[in-house]
Amino acid sequence: MERFDLLIHGTSEILTCTGEGRAEAKLAPLVGGALGIRDGRVAWLGTEPPARGIMELDARGGFVGPGFIDCHTHVVFAGDRSGEFEQRCQGQTYLEIAAAGGGIARTVTATRAASEAELIDLALPRLERLLRHGVTTAEVKSGYGLDLETELRMLKVIRRLGELQPVTLIGTLLALHAVPPEFKADRAGWVKKVIDELLPVVAAEKLARFNDVFVEQTAFTHEEARACLEAGRKRGLLPRLHVDQLTPNGGAQLAASLGAVTADHLEQISPEGIAALAAAGTVAVLAPTSTLFAKARPFAPGRALCDAGVRVALCTNCNPGSSHSENVFLAMGLACVENGLTPAEAYLGFTRHAADAIAEPELGRLQVGSPADVVIFNTSSYRALPYHFAMNDVAHVVKAGRPLY
Ligand code: NIG
Repeated sequence: MERFDLLIHGTSEILTCTGEGRAEAKLAPLVGGALGIRDGRVAWLGTEPPARGIMELDARGGFVGPGFIDCHTHVVFAGDRSGEFEQRCQGQTYLEIAAAGGGIARTVTATRAASEAELIDLALPRLERLLRHGVTTAEVKSGYGLDLETELRMLKVIRRLGELQPVTLIGTLLALHAVPPEFKADRAGWVKKVIDELLPVVAAEKLARFNDVFVEQTAFTHEEARACLEAGRKRGLLPRLHVDQLTPNGGAQLAASLGAVTADHLEQISPEGIAALAAAGTVAVLAPTSTLFAKARPFAPGRALCDAGVRVALCTNCNPGSSHSENVFLAMGLACVENGLTPAEAYLGFTRHAADAIAEPELGRLQVGSPADVVIFNTSSYRALPYHFAMNDVAHVVKAGRPLY
């Protein structure tokens, strides 16, 4: 048989994430497995390789799994909000800081002032840190422009970043992230502008896959979100929502009724909201690092969501305000300790369920034909990842068949 481009061997197990049933069964491990790659895709999986590789990687007893997917990030931004972090440490809340003119608005001012090249330079090291944590695909949102020009600049920056570095990027329009300062007295005017002027360009230029809205006291209402997401869907943009984060707002039910792909945050979700997500098949995206960092407890009820049969994905939510961290393993650890997930559920949260959250069912699983996005760990079990709390046990990252680290 012809040689593989890359053969990975010497594993404790390969987590294929292709099983069915409960979380442990979904991991579907191939004990002592090896994996052959050709042309950027998985060509063979098994225990007795039928051919050698042109290149070979010995996992030295570590386990292997699909590349991680960070399904909710805001890594394109300018400016710094360390002062707000200090204010929170001194007792002010995230909502109080936002109401006093800080928060998202502060990042909007800095991002509007930054050129495309500056935004790229600022985002590249964030993506590099994600990659070093095993992330091979990330969703990235706009939402710090809040005018037509800067929202489009952000989306173009996301597209360009996808060409400049190895992590595959999926763009999301988040023009309804906060009410722009110019529209404080005419919020309906901004929603209309987004629907009539921004969505058509974003869709025509294929600048985003998703259309997202932040439903919150300081942001947008159910009606505004529904109008924007339905208009986006008519243009081919898939809906997702930031909901039930800082105050309970029935946002999970809204997400379910809109057939949203995801409902994100969910710290304040109600039992009715959990049932609605389960019935609709909407993926719940939890962001435990932001619950911690923004001091916005309680942590989302991950246990109840899993028990209700909702697919739970995790993210770093890397952004300058509520989660200034690219640490996948901190998110996994918190998901276990604070959201009530098991290590297997947390692992699925950054693999298969995260792939579902970005509508990329080919990713987050390893089977013949899958894109060869693979992580080799220097530990023999996935259980060590949340247990080795906030530490990085990635040994190698392989992107599209190419070993990077
Ligand atoms: O996902 N919830 C709203 N948006 C971000 C926070 C953005 C910021 O504070 O800059 C989030 O947590």
